[in-house]
Amino acid sequence: MTDPVIRRVRLQEWREVRDLRLRALRDPAAPIAFLSTVDEALSRDDAFWQQRTADAAMGEDAAQFVAVVGERWVGSVSVLLREAGATDTLGRSVDVPQADLVGVFIDGSHRGRGILDALVDAASVWAERAGPSGLTLDVHVENARARAAYARLGFAPTGREVETSSGREIQMHRPAR
Ligand SMILES: CC(C)(COP(=O)(O)OP(=O)(O)OC[C@H]1O[C@@H](n2cnc3c(N)ncnc32)[C@H](O)[C@@H]1OP(=O)(O)O)[C@@H](O)C(=O)NCCC(=O)NCCS
Repeated sequence: MTDPVIRRVRLQEWREVRDLRLRALRDPAAPIAFLSTVDEALSRDDAFWQQRTADAAMGEDAAQFVAVVGERWVGSVSVLLREAGATDTLGRSVDVPQADLVGVFIDGSHRGRGILDALVDAASVWAERAGPSGLTLDVHVENARARAAYARLGFAPTGREVETSSGREIQMHRPAR
């Protein structure tokens, strides 16, 4: 199979951003993988996806990377930079600047092929240029596949855990390389 192209999303690609997000939210693992739902995503208007895509494509404190095979988007990760004193996705106060990896998704038919590794590498390079040291993420305690993948990629638990309405989230960090 052709290797995917790994790149940042482009300003005009809001329909592709929306469609990949909907595919991710329809994945069987979505309830333990993502904080939002298909219904929430469907309730957003075009302006929401256009703004989200503009931030992901051009923002200085956010970026979204995608894996593309031919015309098809087969995976994505996003990075959100948080200043000290900010609040993160799970409502915790951030002590030192950090780069959060969110929205991690590989299409079911493309898993186990190293695409996640390439996306995380792209996110890492971007985050390191922006400042914070390394990448931080949260993973649901029952998301065994994601936990195994993150461990393989060098992420380790920080010891910070949060109980959410859908269960326990474990924070992991990978230092800059
Ligand atoms: C999580 C996800 C991004 C990982 O990408 P991937 O291509 O599937 O990851 P890989 O196949 O490279 O790695 C998965 C690891 O889990 C292991 N694994 C697979 N199924 C497993 C299971 N049911 N239980 C435990 N480990 C499992 C694999 O052996 C592999 O480990 P290894 O590299 O040490 O052999 C992808 O599966 C996905 O998009 N899942 C749905 C959305 C999601 O959960 N996102 C993460 C939110 S935090």
